[in-house]
Amino acid sequence: MREISENIRKYAEKTLSIGRYEHSLSVAEEAVRIGNMTGADPEKCYLAGILHDICREYTKEQYEALGLTEEPGALDPEQGRYDHVLMHGAGAAEEGKKRFGIVDPDVLEAVSWHTTGKAGMGELARIIFVADYTEPGRKGTHFDIVRAELAENGLMAAVEKEAELSTNYWLGKKGIDPADIRDPEGLPPNCRWSYETMIWAKNELRRERKMNKENSKKYTDIIVKAMEDRKAKAIEVIDISEKTPITDAFILCSGTSSTHLRGIADEIEEKMKEAGVACAHLEGYDTARWILLDFIDVVVHVFLEEERQFYNIERLWR
Ligand SMILES: [Fe+2]
Ligand SMILES: [Fe+2]
Repeated sequence: MREISENIRKYAEKTLSIGRYEHSLSVAEEAVRIGNMTGADPEKCYLAGILHDICREYTKEQYEALGLTEEPGALDPEQGRYDHVLMHGAGAAEEGKKRFGIVDPDVLEAVSWHTTGKAGMGELARIIFVADYTEPGRKGTHFDIVRAELAENGLMAAVEKEAELSTNYWLGKKGIDPADIRDPEGLPPNCRWSYETMIWAKNELRRERKMNKENSKKYTDIIVKAMEDRKAKAIEVIDISEKTPITDAFILCSGTSSTHLRGIADEIEEKMKEAGVACAHLEGYDTARWILLDFIDVVVHVFLEEERQFYNIERLWR
């Protein structure tokens, strides 16, 4: 395997621009570093890293020579050239097979999907997806956010964050609001893959965190206490752990005014923070008619009484 890696490195040195070559080396090294954290095979990490951008600067003719002509959306109609952003992962897998004799499905999957990620991708693919962002040559806030996530919360959390950032980027370019998406299959291919990676990663993370069911019990107690302290009304805990992988429990309560709602939400957030748990997602705080706080293991809904009656989510889940 080392020999194949060395062949690819030489080919990359010869065919890529200096910047891209250095990036490839750096991704290979970063992939080994991440692999050390997760227990992945370092040689495979290096191989996939050095290969991943091998076609990034290929011409239309070179892609065609690899048989890549019918990738959906791959030909940019305005410029009459291949959209390398979309094509070069598939190209690297083809070149890996044809030129370098790679048969390892993990390596081929990793290079194929390194740009957008893919729902259900294996460990090596996750490593390359993230290493492409966290290698030290990348400068910018987005990259720093993913680096921090990797350092603090591990590989899957970094995948989730990167998928979210790139989904927003792709969708932003097409002028699509993520909140409007009903059917990801209707999206342009890169948006769709990114979006599906993001949703998959979020669910995986939930599952990972839910492994420790003690958490949801402990968090429920903290949250209910915070609600009581702020004189919330009609507190209710609904265990939905058997019904959905989304979360273990919904914790609901009502308040009498928007100010009251915000006070309850603030108290919950503060007490959870003291317990070392950040709110993963907060919604509705400004309008304060229905505030949602997502702590992964449990999800909190703080309602104005009339909103609660109108939406009646208790009925849906009981
Ligand atoms: Fe790439
Ligand atoms: Fe790259």
